Amino acid sequence: MPQSHEFDVLIIGSGAAGLTVALTLPAHLSIGVISKTDISSGATLWAQGGIAAVLDDQDSVDNHIEDTLNAGAGLCHEDAVRFTVEHSRESIDWLIRSGVDFTRETDSEHYHLTREGGHSHRRIIHAADATGHAVSTTLTQQAQARENVHLMSNRVAVDLITNRKLSLPGNRCVGAYILNLDTGHVELFRARFTVVATGGASKAYRYTTNPDGASGDGIAMAWRAGCRVANMEFNQFHPTCLYHPHAKSFLITEAVRGEGGLLKLPDGSRFMDRFDDRGELAPRDIVARAIDHEMKRLGIDHVYLDISHQPADFIRQHFPTIYEKCLGYGIDITREPIPVVPAAHYTCGGIMTDERARTDISQLYAVGEAAFTGLHGANRMASNSLLECLVYGRAAAEDITRLATTIPAPPAAPDWDESQVRDSDEDVVISHNWDELRHFMWDYVGIVRTTKRLQRAKHRVDLLSREIAEFYSNYRVSNDLLELRNLVTVADLIICSALQRKESRGLHYTLDYPGLQPDARDTILVPTSYQTPSS
Ligand code: FAD
Ligand code: SIN
Repeated sequence: MPQSHEFDVLIIGSGAAGLTVALTLPAHLSIGVISKTDISSGATLWAQGGIAAVLDDQDSVDNHIEDTLNAGAGLCHEDAVRFTVEHSRESIDWLIRSGVDFTRETDSEHYHLTREGGHSHRRIIHAADATGHAVSTTLTQQAQARENVHLMSNRVAVDLITNRKLSLPGNRCVGAYILNLDTGHVELFRARFTVVATGGASKAYRYTTNPDGASGDGIAMAWRAGCRVANMEFNQFHPTCLYHPHAKSFLITEAVRGEGGLLKLPDGSRFMDRFDDRGELAPRDIVARAIDHEMKRLGIDHVYLDISHQPADFIRQHFPTIYEKCLGYGIDITREPIPVVPAAHYTCGGIMTDERARTDISQLYAVGEAAFTGLHGANRMASNSLLECLVYGRAAAEDITRLATTIPAPPAAPDWDESQVRDSDEDVVISHNWDELRHFMWDYVGIVRTTKRLQRAKHRVDLLSREIAEFYSNYRVSNDLLELRNLVTVADLIICSALQRKESRGLHYTLDYPGLQPDARDTILVPTSYQTPSS
């Protein structure tokens, strides 16, 4: 018999965003935090470079704001940028108080700040080159120690439950249906507040820096439930993912370039100066496009990132994880350049939220990479993402705390009905469609786009959507099927948004519209079932 659960707050996702919400909420609220596989299965664990914050006297809030606005190519919401940057120091202080051991300057109590693309100052606080590991393990330990926080792994959210789905008045979220991978049953989770913290959707692309679960589940679920999503065309490609036949999704942090690493062609010559005055430290969209251009021009599989001119001790001390990982593949980065390629890295768009992380549906919040706050505009500046998880995670928790006494218990909801479905006898359909989708997204909806390629992709995504919808209505759900169903939805949202943008701005570059439109506008997609929170 499937179980049912009730919490004050259900948090879907246990990355930096979800755990920040959980740890900021007061102890008298019961909190359920679910994660698809391990508690540390999200992108947070893999973050390398660090977290951007104004921590140095030479730096200022205005500088950080200006850099973010510049990187965002005219589309950042200035209020969201200011809100985030103004809360950066207190968010880092909170992490330090929670126990994150950031790297300090040699022989000094001061924290070492590194630099990354688009930043005019050293402002990235980090734990060597494994910042995400430090953040994820610390926050998980803190959450495990809280009696009111129930961490549950191997739980995959299938869909959100709203009043509308229950044919009740109002537009409130009352929880979610969740597949328990240990039992194979879909369970009912009811909650007074639900928080989507499911991370990004970069798995829609064949080559990505992201872990396996980054299939945009929260974005797709919120869209199906009636939330608007914005700016999905701005999928960020990180310029430097390790190129090696046996290396899956291994990032070479931008901090390598921040500490002097140079991008080179196979003949050893540099090329970034031809594309931007800031050279290797230009914002990511520019660097990724330049690499893509050179690879296509020369017909090469990768370029090189070279830091071997720095002292070997310096390299080993600053980049111990990358040094060891590359050495394992036979590349000694203290002596030779690293082969690198761009790969899908970050979803700038997402579920539309306000400054308290509230979505279009009452009592439904979205935080972290799944959310669209307006911070990143058309191109996220490096290391602003973990910061956004912290700032908006805390804002969501404060809003929930404020409302907690006024929001009644969720209404009753039916158990999951699987009387009409059977076990699948053709899982090959799932694996085939996964591959097909990620291939055409890479080829047709990648770093450089054209209208014709986007239309081709749209045609294919429509066919896949129909096939997957039919599969979903006939067979019992599995993690692979759920991810595929969500991926096809986010792929469609990305393609539709890209087709709507008739200009090249930030991460969206199309040969058919190489110039900028005079007005910078968000691409807002509205589901047919959209209702305003008050309606
Ligand atoms: P995640 O950390 O991705 O967590 C998502 C959670 O949701 C997971 O627990 C997952 O299991 C769960 N989940 C997803 N779907 C479901 C579902 N259907 N049901 C149940 N649970 C679900 N940003 C920076 O600011 N600085 C960096 O240095 C940096 N380096 C990066 C390096 C790499 C290799 C990568 C991939 C990203 C990096 N980023 C960096 C980006 C940053 O790590 C992410 O944007 C951020 O960690 C996202 O956090 P999150 O909490 O929103 O989601
Ligand atoms: C990196 O370390 O290069 C990733 C930083 C980020 O994605 O913000």
